[in-house]
Formats: sequence, C-alpha cells, structure tokens
Amino acid sequence: MLKDQGAQEYAANQTREEARHVTAFAKYIKARWGRPVECGPVLKDLLVEIIHAPEVYKKIIGMQMLVEGLAMGAFATIFNETNDPLARKLTQLVMTDEAFHHKFGKIWADRTIPHLTPAEHETIEMWAAHCFQTLLFNLVAPTQNVSLYAEFGLDPDRVIAEMGELVNDETRRDEMKEATNIFRVLVKTLVNAGIITDRTKAFYATYVDIDELKGEGDKMVGDDIAEQGIKYLQEINFKDRAKQVLIAAE
Ligand SMILES: [Fe+2]
Ligand SMILES: [Fe+2]
Repeated sequence: MLKDQGAQEYAANQTREEARHVTAFAKYIKARWGRPVECGPVLKDLLVEIIHAPEVYKKIIGMQMLVEGLAMGAFATIFNETNDPLARKLTQLVMTDEAFHHKFGKIWADRTIPHLTPAEHETIEMWAAHCFQTLLFNLVAPTQNVSLYAEFGLDPDRVIAEMGELVNDETRRDEMKEATNIFRVLVKTLVNAGIITDRTKAFYATYVDIDELKGEGDKMVGDDIAEQGIKYLQEINFKDRAKQVLIAAE
C-alpha cells in the first residue's frame, strides 16, 4: 500500500530486521529461562488490528510511531536496569534497528500530518488516543499476565483486585515523570508529530505535562544507546575493510 518505492524497500527491510529480533529474543529467553510466553492479549489484539487495517495511517502510527516507541522505551529501560551483560548487548543491538523504524514514522508524519484535511486529522488523532488509552490501561496490567501467577502460587483474581487498588491515575502520573517511561515516550512521539491538538490535549494532560514535553525537543529516548551500538557495529564491520585499504595502498 506504500506508493513510494523507497518506502516499499524500507518496509521489506524492516520485516527482515523484525524476524532477526524475534529470533534473538527467543534464543535469549530460551537460554536464560526456557520457553518464551505468548504475547499479552491486548498487545496482540492491537498488532492484529494494525496488520489487517487497510488504512496506511493505522499501520504507520500504530507500528512505527507507537509500537516502535514502546520498543525504544522498553529496551532503553532494560538496557539501563539489567545486570545481565548479554541482555544489555542484545537490547542495544536491537535498538540500532528500532531507532530507524521509529524515525521512519517521524518522517512519514512530518510529510503527511501538515497536509491532512481537518476531518482526516480528527480521525487520526482520535485513533491515536484510542491506542494510547488501550496500551496505558492494559499493556502492563495484571490481566495480561494471568498464566504467570498460577506458576508462582498466586491467585490471579486476588493479584488483579489488589493491583487495582494500588495502581491509579495518581501512580500513573508519577511513573510518567520518568524520561524512559514507555507511556511518556508515546505521548512525546504524538506531540512531536503534531498529532495531538486541543481536541485530545486534556486527555493526555491527565497523565503528563504536555508543555514540558514540547520543551524537551524531539530527541528520542534510547537514541544515544542506539548510536553507541552503531559505533560498535562499525568497528566490527569495517575492521577488515580498513585492512584491505591498507593492503591496496601497499
Ligand atoms: Fe523489533
Ligand atoms: Fe522495529
């Protein structure tokens, strides 16, 4: 559905890179803990909706802007918090790809959003808000991990009920003050893309200070980690080339 041939090539290449990520994470999880668990139901529903959507905006906002934004926030958090050197290297190398996937969404938005009709902008803005709300309330909710609780002798209904008392808009707002918080990253992505207007600003403002986000500029969380990863890859990939140049010069 992408008309630009460069964009078509980009999309094919992203598919190849995602297959690599799935393989790498599956192997990592298997090496450390055993069989990877299934995707949580809400994220799975969103991914399936994006796959089946005939609208280009749903695919690009849904995948490149929101899901890739989630990936950058989540991997940056793992990179910063983990004590496992293998997890650190794995998330960093995957982020060297994800940073570009997220950037493609930004390029699309910069070229598309300013030319939308008011009706199109409204459709896109409301769909983005719907996705954000779905992810905020469900992505890390205990309802998405029911099968894990039984394994540890916990009653899933009790976990869900008690976490419902502990997690509320107040705690969400507090958590979203952290720069690498995945939901903060999502709102920032939508603000920078010009998708959020006065129509939905109040909804996001329940959780995060929109003007503060605007003042932060458009540097993406995790970009620094990805840049260091690319330098590391260049050292490996161009090591032989440097030798060949020397040999050729001789
Ligand atoms: Fe990926
Ligand atoms: Fe990706």
